Amino acid sequence: IPTHIYADAKDASRAVAQEIADLIRQKQREGKPCVLGLATGSSPKTVYAELIRMHREEGLSFHNVVSFNLDEYYPMEPDSLQSYWRFMREQLFDHVDIPQGNYHVPKGTLPVDKVAEFTKQYEAAIEAAGGLDFQLLGIGGNGHIGFNEPGSLINSHTRLMMLDNSTRAAAAADFGGLPKTPRKAITMGVSSILGARRVVLLAWGERKAPVIRGAVEGLVTELNPASYLQTHPNALFVIDQAAASELT
Ligand code: F6R
Repeated sequence: IPTHIYADAKDASRAVAQEIADLIRQKQREGKPCVLGLATGSSPKTVYAELIRMHREEGLSFHNVVSFNLDEYYPMEPDSLQSYWRFMREQLFDHVDIPQGNYHVPKGTLPVDKVAEFTKQYEAAIEAAGGLDFQLLGIGGNGHIGFNEPGSLINSHTRLMMLDNSTRAAAAADFGGLPKTPRKAITMGVSSILGARRVVLLAWGERKAPVIRGAVEGLVTELNPASYLQTHPNALFVIDQAAASELT
């Protein structure tokens, strides 16, 4: 997987935001929507901050952006502090001119017997929008992309997933302890992610170094779902020096 290593997350995020802005503007010139797959978590925050700056200072418009987020906890109310719907509004959507209705986050409020139907509709909506032009990803310490935990198959679809203990432990502080942390999430599948025409994965910090090494240099394996990106023709890892520290 091509890997670009930057001195720090800020430098790296500037380059990624520039690529996204270039794509949005190219689609504007073509009179087309720009379909983005978006991630939450700490890694993309600096990218979103840079996109907001470009909107304010450089006239970057999001009027043609259509977006689909990777995942949402289940169950989860949209206005809860920890919801990914709320995260996206606070970190990006409320600060740019993306039309309301153009952005989508998996719904965490459905009764369990309605989830399968919803996940089918979510994939159909991505298809109907023309497919993902660009997918932004973070990576879990266990190699998850979206919430495709280890064991997820390369052809997996958007679905309800049981979260790994390590994923729940990493989120526990936000929920006031492990017992209050959701056990499940709705996530885009690996096949949905690999269907994007461009995939950029972000990783910052030493904590990610072992899993980055596995994903880039190891075998393609369901034990490290990010390794599936080795099979993608147009994937890029954008990482800082600390996350690169175990690459050989
Ligand atoms: C978030 C997501 C997750 C995170 C991953 C890394 O939408 O899909 O895969 O990208 O857990 O999280 P951070 O960036 O907080 O280290």
